[in-house]
Amino acid sequence: MYEKIAKFYDRLGWSKFPLKLWDQMKVYFKKESFNPSSHLDIACGTGVLSIKAASEGIRSEGLDFSIDMINIAKENAKSKNLDITYYHADMRSFNLNKKYALITCTYDAINHLLTIDEWKQTFSRVKAHLNDNGIFIFDCNTPKALKERWNCIHVDKDNEGNYMIQKAIHYEKKGISTASFTVFTKEENGLYDGFEETFTEISFPSSQVIDILREVGFSNITITDTNFNRLDNPDEEYRNVYICK
Ligand SMILES: C[S@@+](CC[C@H](N)C(=O)[O-])C[C@H]1O[C@@H](n2cnc3c(N)ncnc32)[C@H](O)[C@@H]1O
Repeated sequence: MYEKIAKFYDRLGWSKFPLKLWDQMKVYFKKESFNPSSHLDIACGTGVLSIKAASEGIRSEGLDFSIDMINIAKENAKSKNLDITYYHADMRSFNLNKKYALITCTYDAINHLLTIDEWKQTFSRVKAHLNDNGIFIFDCNTPKALKERWNCIHVDKDNEGNYMIQKAIHYEKKGISTASFTVFTKEENGLYDGFEETFTEISFPSSQVIDILREVGFSNITITDTNFNRLDNPDEEYRNVYICK
């Protein structure tokens, strides 16, 4: 997973989401007077958040289990003259023997884990790596998002002439959606490079997610939208952000 897409991830504009979320996160941190000095981004992808945090003076590191994504993250950090450590590891089982003030997991990376037990294993590893007053923030697609938005065919052409065809099917009984992305990127010589990659995501009702977060030791859990406004009915939304202390 993510081997082929790694090369195109930033070019397809997929880094915009974590960047925007980081801006909103900072507004939230300011309100809470929370100044994290250390940060770990799990499922860090091409390193967008770790690079942003490091460039703002936070000691930041990243972790991902796709070596192709890690390699792009390293190149991206190097191009900004930032010395960031990236770990090639699985978020379900990582053990870095250190703790952080802030841990993040963004752009529905958690939805890639297809059982609630795997979500719980991940939350438990996160809890073990957080300082006593640390905060864990992750976003996820809700079951409503997978049912209504990951059941479609979309064809998009961006301003640079790249095409993306998304074919997604929702399997209601299993609560999962599988999306295959066919991408053609326009190269300088006018020809197209291309690849196809398939992802499967699952989601769970917020009450179930809260239960497992509590079971691993988080006692203060808030669910917001991507602007960090608290949600009264999170299951009615397409994307939830969990702030866990
Ligand atoms: C949609 S991308 C999100 C990347 C990044 N968080 C962002 O916001 O741009 C999902 C990432 O999750 C990573 N991932 C999926 N399962 C993982 C696992 N079990 N452990 C670590 N990383 C994982 C993938 O390799 C991929 O880089």
